[in-house]
Amino acid sequence: MSSQNIYILGIESSCDDTSAAVLCNNVVLSNVVASQKIHEEFGGVVPELASRAHQQNIVPVVDRALKQANISKEQLHAIAFTRGPGLMGSLLVGTSFAKSLAYGLTIPLIDVNHMQAHILAHFIKEDGFQHPPFPFLAMTISGGHTQIVKVDNYFKMDVIGETIDDAVGEAYDKSGKILGLGYPAGPEIDKRAQLGNPKAYPFTKPRVEGLNFSFSGFKTAVLYFIQREVKNNPNFIEENLNDICASIQYTIIGILIDKLKLASKQTGIKHIAIGGGVSANSGIRRALKAGEQKFGWTTYVPKFEFTTDNAGMIAIVGYLKYLEGDFAAHDVMASARLKI
Ligand code: KG4
Ligand code: ZN
Repeated sequence: MSSQNIYILGIESSCDDTSAAVLCNNVVLSNVVASQKIHEEFGGVVPELASRAHQQNIVPVVDRALKQANISKEQLHAIAFTRGPGLMGSLLVGTSFAKSLAYGLTIPLIDVNHMQAHILAHFIKEDGFQHPPFPFLAMTISGGHTQIVKVDNYFKMDVIGETIDDAVGEAYDKSGKILGLGYPAGPEIDKRAQLGNPKAYPFTKPRVEGLNFSFSGFKTAVLYFIQREVKNNPNFIEENLNDICASIQYTIIGILIDKLKLASKQTGIKHIAIGGGVSANSGIRRALKAGEQKFGWTTYVPKFEFTTDNAGMIAIVGYLKYLEGDFAAHDVMASARLKI
């Protein structure tokens, strides 16, 4: 490995967060995220509005990231950007910006897979956080993704399970919408769940073969249950909100842990890392800790800043690819359905 300091600018624009980060080797110097509030009033991300907001945000966000890092753009060694997967209109903003900046500075351009980045975020150097050893299992859980990935090394990853419909964060957000909660509803359901009885209302878990997930049936089950109960008691939601949230959370966490147990059994791997916005959830954190006792797992939860969509995770992949000399051609295209 080179003893020289390598400065990488990372750019992330796959969904509704515009983000830019500067790394010196594997250390984050700045990680600026502009979240788009506009989607809250629609109860979900509106793609057209997202790409327009990225266009407004990208220049000031990159500027702020460089200033906070105290690095001039002439000091950068490469620009890493999210090529996919994500919303096409959003990806195009980051892709074109990264291309023109790299071209203008005559430095390498590095394309990054957003799903790999969620996993490799564990390799950002941060006090108090361990890097998982290879091989490990990574479960990426957010509003856009639900995957279990077997990670053999930085660049050899196999998706061994994923959702066949909604992501787990959507199960939280859509259940929250049914209950009249704001968007995104995950944090509030989590907060209320800790005050309620998780076994008050049993919801059945979907039966999905192997390591795949399905959450669309769960959301429908919540909807029918609430409609039925509200018919009998119009105040049912208000009177029982904490118990409803606790029961929803209990079922969702049960689904995630069942699949992780199966994945660990099938692969014989006991190092388990999580990522994505839902890894903030108190229930999943507690269940992982319990897994350390019950199943001999070692679990890894990254710093929250690096687990939701952010450019720090894009820049760490950029750094690892830079060391390999793995650069993109200037005609590289954004890819909405890019696979790991
Ligand atoms: O990674 P993220 O910020 O963005 C993407 O979706 O890519 O994840 C956002 C998702 C939302 O669905 C939100 O409801 C969920 O993460 N979330 C949570 C919690 N905090 C955020 N879900 C459950 N419990 C939480 N504490
Ligand atoms: Zn993501």
